[in-house]
Amino acid sequence: MAREDAQGGGDGAGVAAVHDSLTVTDNRTGQSFDLPITDGTVKAMDFRQMKTGEEDFGLMTYDPAFTNTAHCRSEICFIDGAKGVLEYRGYPIEQLCEQSTYLEVAYLLVHGQLPTDDALSCWKHMVTHHTYVHESIKKSMEVFRYNAHPMAMLLSTVGALSTFYPAAKDLESETERYMAIIRLVAKMPTLAAFAYRHSVGLPYVYPDNDLSYPGNFLSMLYKMTEVKYEPDPRLEKALDVLWILHADHEQNCSTAAVRGVGSSQVDPYSAVAAGVAALYGPLHGGANEAVLRMLARIGTVEDIPAFLQGVKDRKERLMGFGHRVYKNYDPRARIIKKHVDEVLEIVGSDNPKVGIAVELEKHALDDEYFTDRKLYPNVDFYSGLIYEAMSIPTDMFTVMFAIPRTAGWLAQWHEMLEDPETKIARPRQIYTGERELDYVPIEQRV
Ligand code: SDX
Repeated sequence: MAREDAQGGGDGAGVAAVHDSLTVTDNRTGQSFDLPITDGTVKAMDFRQMKTGEEDFGLMTYDPAFTNTAHCRSEICFIDGAKGVLEYRGYPIEQLCEQSTYLEVAYLLVHGQLPTDDALSCWKHMVTHHTYVHESIKKSMEVFRYNAHPMAMLLSTVGALSTFYPAAKDLESETERYMAIIRLVAKMPTLAAFAYRHSVGLPYVYPDNDLSYPGNFLSMLYKMTEVKYEPDPRLEKALDVLWILHADHEQNCSTAAVRGVGSSQVDPYSAVAAGVAALYGPLHGGANEAVLRMLARIGTVEDIPAFLQGVKDRKERLMGFGHRVYKNYDPRARIIKKHVDEVLEIVGSDNPKVGIAVELEKHALDDEYFTDRKLYPNVDFYSGLIYEAMSIPTDMFTVMFAIPRTAGWLAQWHEMLEDPETKIARPRQIYTGERELDYVPIEQRV
């Protein structure tokens, strides 16, 4: 809303600024504008009216990596980065880890409320009875080299699922949307386990409907010649808690990818494949794998100071530390750290990397280079130690992140489809290239 000249109305008295608004004066024209503030934001489109003339396109906002830009409204996940608070649909993560299960949390994220007993039983039944994948998907895994990275295999096979469920393109159908959510939550562990078995040259183990969601995954990973795999209930519980902690995290890189790709109205399998691809990156979900490799490279507690100096000299990055939102201890890291010792006791491993990780954290949090930059352990710093203690190979760690995050991606994807403000995502740019050049025939080029 443009106002009179910056000095306000004819009588010289300034026009009272509307409460909850931003008054912006464009010094190029002397015009002032009152921009409404809603939910702590101003609309970027409100800047387009600020022009120097009729030809002017108007002002845009510039925010590489969207460090200070909200791209949606959401009711799914709340984070207070300064206080280290994380809530799913309003429930504190600490209570969900103590009292809930991953499948119940997946229901909560997708449906928006905790399930009744009947609703949970139905949800569990549906997920349990959709864990199989088409045999052609299983066969398609055979084309990968023996040393193919499991995350790349997962990326490919999740996308390939869209070829088996063409009806999922019908986003108007609530049934098709719901079935895609069920199928992806159900099949992600199967695809992940198949990728693992392929990478170690073992025959694939089919889902066992008698087992829990995490127990079935452990069976598909580790079952050998025994008639029925019996998972250690303590490892099942530890995995379930880890998966609750990884289930959603507001507009992180991979969720933003799912929302962005999903905004083109592509099918949900393709949208989730985009999330898998984004999560694969070492700055995102790939960090848990990078942490273990970093701890192995550090080698001993005595080598920690030299390594941290390398970080300060910008030759290294302290993987598993830092976060775009948390400028305090990631609440998930705190919970995971408690489970590290528990799992090590179960598997009876005295992993030297644990000692290095604990000392590394102590050194970093005692060093103002890190505390000044508010670099604290994030969810990836300790999770890999638990996976390693469970004999899960390092290149499977990011796959272990993708399995639980699927429920969060799908909840956010569904919310995006329901949001009346949703349009196809199409950011603008600042063009810095050449203009109106004449074509140069090849013989004249140097
Ligand atoms: C996840 O977004 C999410 O919610 C993600 C996630 C989820 O659940 O979905 O929480 C999961 O991805 C956790 C993050 C896992 N990644 C890592 O652990 C990789 C290491 N951390 C980073 O690379 C980094 O901290 C990010 C990517 C996580 C955040 O980067 P930002 O917010 O863009 O911060 P930045 O790069 O602008 O860094 C600010 C300063 C810089 O120093 P100066 O240039 O100002 O001097 O902090 C430094 C950076 O150099 N810095 C680090 C560092 N992270 C930031 N220096 C050393 N080691 C690090 N890890």
